[in-house]
Amino acid sequence: MKVIGISGSPTKDSNTDTLVKTILDATGAQTEFFKLSSIKVGPCIACMKCVRTNECIINDDFKWLSRKVMEADAIVVGSSTFYGAASAFTKAFIERLYSKRHIKLLTAGKIAATVAVGVAAEKMVGEWLGNGLRAGGMEIVAGMTAKGTPCCFVCGPGETCAFTVWNAYSKELTGMDLGVEEAYKGYLELLPDNKPYTHGSAKFLKGYRSVKDEPEVMAEAERIGKLIKEKIKNSRKTAGDSKCRC
Ligand SMILES: Cc1cc2nc3c(=O)[nH]c(=O)nc-3n(C[C@H](O)[C@H](O)[C@H](O)COP(=O)(O)O)c2cc1C
Repeated sequence: MKVIGISGSPTKDSNTDTLVKTILDATGAQTEFFKLSSIKVGPCIACMKCVRTNECIINDDFKWLSRKVMEADAIVVGSSTFYGAASAFTKAFIERLYSKRHIKLLTAGKIAATVAVGVAAEKMVGEWLGNGLRAGGMEIVAGMTAKGTPCCFVCGPGETCAFTVWNAYSKELTGMDLGVEEAYKGYLELLPDNKPYTHGSAKFLKGYRSVKDEPEVMAEAERIGKLIKEKIKNSRKTAGDSKCRC
């Protein structure tokens, strides 16, 4: 039983990495973890040279990574949320899976789970990731999202910067209530003069927000890992049963 985890977060030991690894550990399977920012997987160039062979011709690390995907019973893909979307690393990886689709849909039936970490738009990323993998015929057994560390907590200038994430996600600027104030209420104090692009509109009360401090988030990752384990067991049993009937 093999399960691989792929993180599209470029941050070292990020929340995305933690959740993907926690899911892997809970499967009890033989696992491998890959960080896309540490290897080279570029975007699809739409050359269509993979149509007949199901092999991408680009000479980068997708060559061996795609073999790992093909050998795995299940894959766990995680991404940070950047500009309301998956990270470019994650996007490139999903695009390259296109090579496995033509005519044979080689990834069909694989079990998959997704992780998306962000401040405000991680649900959209989770949905997008699920759809991308589903397009490859994979069965998404679960998708989880988690709140991460806004870069403004740790970038240095912090609350002295007038262009913080709080302004960018503010209702005044976006016209949407993205729930950021509620989700980060223990982490920041909005000041009475809170207005988009007003200097010092929020005070940051805490720095790094780690999923390791959130037992219910970690428990969800463990639950997903166990679910993957069960799914693989059941799908093997079903495959065995159908063999007996032949
Ligand atoms: C370039 C950049 C753009 C970002 N854009 C968004 C965004 O649009 N929505 C959001 O929710 N978070 C955004 N963030 C915040 C990250 O999603 C947040 O830092 C998250 O914790 C990253 O997860 P990770 O630490 O697991 O990589 C952005 C961060 C960076 C570096």
